[in-house]
Amino acid sequence: MIEQTRIWSAVALLTVVTIACQAAPAPSERVDASRETGARAVAELGSATGVLGAAASAESHATLEAMRVLEEGGSAVDAAITLGFALAVTYPNAGNLGGGGFFLYRSPEGESWYLDFREVAPLAATLEMYLDEEGDPDRKASTRGWKAAGVPGSVFGMWEAHQRWGSLPWARLIQPAIELAEYGFEISFAEAAALNRLKSAFSEDAYAASVFVRSDGRPWIQRDVLRQPALASTLSAIATEGESALREGSIVRAIVAASQEGGGVLAMEDFAEYEPIIRPVHTIAWHDMEVLTITPPSSGSLFLGQTLPVLEEFPLAQWGWRDPRTVQLIGEAEAAAFRDRNRWLGDPASMEFSWIDLLDPSYLGQRALALDPELYTSPDEDLPMPPFESTETTHYSVLDAQGGAVAVTTTLNSSYGAKVMAPGGFLMNNEMDDFAALPGHANQYGLVQSEANAVIAGRRPLSSMSPVIVVKNGKVDSVIGSPGGPTILTTVLQVLLNRYTFEMAPEDAVAAPRFHRQDRPPTLRYEAGRLGRPTLQALQALGQPLAEIRSLGDVNAIFRDGSEWVAVADSRRGGLGQVAVIGSDG
Ligand code: GLY
Repeated sequence: MIEQTRIWSAVALLTVVTIACQAAPAPSERVDASRETGARAVAELGSATGVLGAAASAESHATLEAMRVLEEGGSAVDAAITLGFALAVTYPNAGNLGGGGFFLYRSPEGESWYLDFREVAPLAATLEMYLDEEGDPDRKASTRGWKAAGVPGSVFGMWEAHQRWGSLPWARLIQPAIELAEYGFEISFAEAAALNRLKSAFSEDAYAASVFVRSDGRPWIQRDVLRQPALASTLSAIATEGESALREGSIVRAIVAASQEGGGVLAMEDFAEYEPIIRPVHTIAWHDMEVLTITPPSSGSLFLGQTLPVLEEFPLAQWGWRDPRTVQLIGEAEAAAFRDRNRWLGDPASMEFSWIDLLDPSYLGQRALALDPELYTSPDEDLPMPPFESTETTHYSVLDAQGGAVAVTTTLNSSYGAKVMAPGGFLMNNEMDDFAALPGHANQYGLVQSEANAVIAGRRPLSSMSPVIVVKNGKVDSVIGSPGGPTILTTVLQVLLNRYTFEMAPEDAVAAPRFHRQDRPPTLRYEAGRLGRPTLQALQALGQPLAEIRSLGDVNAIFRDGSEWVAVADSRRGGLGQVAVIGSDG
């Protein structure tokens, strides 16, 4: 059922039209709702008619600000920049200035670009910095506090995207974020619950406590207004000075001082020398389409470049998406791809192995021959289950009237990152935990990785973030991505399979139950109560270890569906997902 609500935010004076997808609607219901929402968005935002675009993100204020930019004639890149800065205010668990991410762009002319603005290990980082006195990984050091923070790349990445492809003025694109921070916005039920849950963690950091812990002592409730004046001031400096506000000067000096005081190793040179990098896009030929994926330090190209062609060798559509053979085979293909990922990948500047060889058709052909949908293959070595993954990372998708498309996945790593706030009013990442603190040992996600991902100064840690754009007949057909640590990879894979192999409607492709396997642990985790008892019993009979998980991923995607664009926000994370669609390409 689609539920539409209109919320007048008394403080921010924003009119918000939201769609909270409780469950996949019937196609006819959905098309009507999209049209109606489009019309309302146009009316609310004072737009002209026509095909203006679509946006999907995890937070409604941010999505609607992106739509305003599109309505003003901004491009998908412009709208994505606005969306990214707005999320840094309205979605502080993962939207960020203090983190990093990946920006995948396909221009209206059909060129594709991948901009890497991932965090970098500080120049003072060392191989041993996350080992305790016994030489064992010190999980707390790599996940909590200033020592866990890599050099943030988000502001530099957005600046680079704007310099290369932006059209509206930089300051205009940041203005909504400044206002949201300055005047505040009404928080959601989920945001209130998260802030209450983390009260004691935020209380350990004076800056974080001043923003995220209420001074009157009562818990946060839905529709409380969250104001962030220090963040507004930092955003104003970024709007006026551009990226140099975070290269040098008073904000950076204060961050470096706080880091040193808090046991971190960030230095002025780290900010001065950080560079966003344009890297190759890897195109996977799949079905009759091109899937644009991103290369290391993301593992998206390797993972999807292995699993999509291998799975194409089997009659999945004929078996059906919930058939035990389908589930087991996808799980086995996922595990095999994770094995190569963890063994070989890292920062491309320090990888000695040509990862592209792992996509060689003869290598993948052998893998397809070895896969058996009725066989469970265990890894060489077993490890305990990793802890439940929290709501880290976020993805947003934007599409403009000219056919330009942007897919951005961005992160602080854990939810609210390292739980320390920079003096400039933004949370710092704990991305250093994405390195292998001690190669051969598990990180917080249970991933066991190699020397290729060891902690080295100036390196970027290996990532699972995997934004994709699908192109069909020369035109964008979908823009997809998700948060979820390693489950990002399996989530994106399964949405692609759902949409294009099982030919599900867009909402169903996102809503369908997900499951996840990686190399270690070999457990197939599946969304609680959603895979069906017969399927689970059949998997159990194969010896496949199973475990329930509350939910996997949080997809924000845009799909072409006949003559319509359908923007779909996942309902998995407490109804936070928001979408906006204006017009159709009728
Ligand atoms: N920090 C999550 C990822 O990059 O995979």
